[in-house]
Amino acid sequence: MRGIILSGGSATRLRPCTKVTSKQLLPIYNRPMIYYPLNTLIKAGIKEILIIVAPEKAGDYLNLLGSGKEFGVRFTYEIQDKPNGLAEAFIIGENFIDDENVCMILGDNIFEDDFTEDIKNFKKGAKVFAKSVNDPERFGVVEFDENNKAVSIEEKPKKPKSNFCVTGLYVYDNRVVDIAKNLKPSERGEVEITDVNNWYLERGELDVARVNGEWIDAGTFDSLLEAQILAKEKLQDKLII
Ligand code: DAU
Repeated sequence: MRGIILSGGSATRLRPCTKVTSKQLLPIYNRPMIYYPLNTLIKAGIKEILIIVAPEKAGDYLNLLGSGKEFGVRFTYEIQDKPNGLAEAFIIGENFIDDENVCMILGDNIFEDDFTEDIKNFKKGAKVFAKSVNDPERFGVVEFDENNKAVSIEEKPKKPKSNFCVTGLYVYDNRVVDIAKNLKPSERGEVEITDVNNWYLERGELDVARVNGEWIDAGTFDSLLEAQILAKEKLQDKLII
């Protein structure tokens, strides 16, 4: 299993804090934000990790994280010139992924849960992790039938069919590279991860698990503050780096 941390974008919502560095390097209590998703991957035994970054911030990542030797893993870096969508990570990462399966996590997603077993036991298809939220219209939303089977996923629907959103941790088999390469950009001009998930869903190959613990997408000042508190109160003894 290869790992990808998608850590690009310009985070204009967090200006001026993101004027000279990347959102995913801002401190969350006593660690840079990216350490939290890195913990998720490294705990799961992933040794090869691709970090995708925006061009103007790439130097900061190299200075902070280096080769990965310090953490017992190997980092590869790639530049994403523009935030063209989450699914672009698999196109940028094609050579890195090679013929392996891949687990991607967003650089600003902080989870309390441990996904080690889900990642280690993954064989084929796709697996995503859903969480009930109060503002599902901001996310990819999963609709379940009466047997709790996922039946649809919609990206930022105006009328969400449930409160369950897809969080920023995704596990795919090697087909994801070709799937991503064949996607057409959405109305907002991005190659959507939701379209990748629907590809697997339509073929009955998408496993939607639930997130039990807390999950924070630290993209706003308020969620940044919540993340700080979560990190201080609940995550310290779970971190390995
Ligand atoms: O957080 C989970 C949500 O992430 C999912 O529920 C949605 O289905 C998925 O589309 C995505 O939602 P957003 O569109 O709101 O993601 P956002 O544009 O905020 O980007 C998420 C992170 O990924 C952010 O830290 C910036 C980074 N990013 C984003 C894009 C579009 C990149 O590095 N490159 C990109 O091209």
